[in-house]
Amino acid sequence: MTEAGSVPITTDSAHRHGFGVDVGGSGIKGGIVDLVTGELVGDRYKIETPQPATPDAIAGVVAQIVQHFGWTGSIGVTLPAVVTGGVARSAANIDESWIDTDARALFAKAIGNDNITVLNDADAAGVAEDRFGGGKDKTGVVVLLTFGTGIGSAVLHNGVLLPNTELGHLEVDGKEAEHRAASSVKESEDLSYKEWAKEVSKVLATFEALLWPDLFIAGGGISRKSEKWIPHLTNRTPVVAATLLNTAGIVGAALAADTASDTAIDR
Ligand code: BGC
Repeated sequence: MTEAGSVPITTDSAHRHGFGVDVGGSGIKGGIVDLVTGELVGDRYKIETPQPATPDAIAGVVAQIVQHFGWTGSIGVTLPAVVTGGVARSAANIDESWIDTDARALFAKAIGNDNITVLNDADAAGVAEDRFGGGKDKTGVVVLLTFGTGIGSAVLHNGVLLPNTELGHLEVDGKEAEHRAASSVKESEDLSYKEWAKEVSKVLATFEALLWPDLFIAGGGISRKSEKWIPHLTNRTPVVAATLLNTAGIVGAALAADTASDTAIDR
């Protein structure tokens, strides 16, 4: 997407760079991002998520990752939580002590950099996939879903994000969507791809009745095996697999930090 909320495109060869850190349940990953191509500049750096994954422990690791690159510009950090005004508001699959933590202030202090944007992990992935991945060149309403331990969601209209949609917690047929169709459910209930796709179809049908999207992008690790389950889906809206995979969160966080005021994400 290059219209509303877009990153100013530089025409010279020295593309502008940004920095993103993606905080996940098992790993915390960061890297320098080319904001024009959506590619990483050099390698990603990953450190295992400390357990318990308390705010202070995570902030220490995020700071270590930033220091590894010697980055001093603006920084985007994702959290698997609702984030408003830099404050974490929920903790469905993370340590409860995150609730009401001022994540932006915490990261700013740990890193020694005030230029921090904190956003939901799926929102970050959605921003990146919409711009550079499965939603590239697609206008209208695009919904990215990440299938993992839970289900994360990002809703974009012509490239502009509506943050914190949390569709994974909607009730679908008497059960929370993420308890029905996260990829962790496929594992714990030992479902075949076909059986699991039936549950995903129910969830997608509920989401599409609410939002009438033009496209769903399926993200999360299981999108690597998309040919095994996307063909079994029976919902109305086209579904494509995410293409950025394990860099989407980093790239989206960097974009959000760079365009915080444009994309309605509170810095
Ligand atoms: C959380 C979301 C998060 C998603 C994926 C859900 O349980 O509520 O905030 O985006 O998991 O990590």
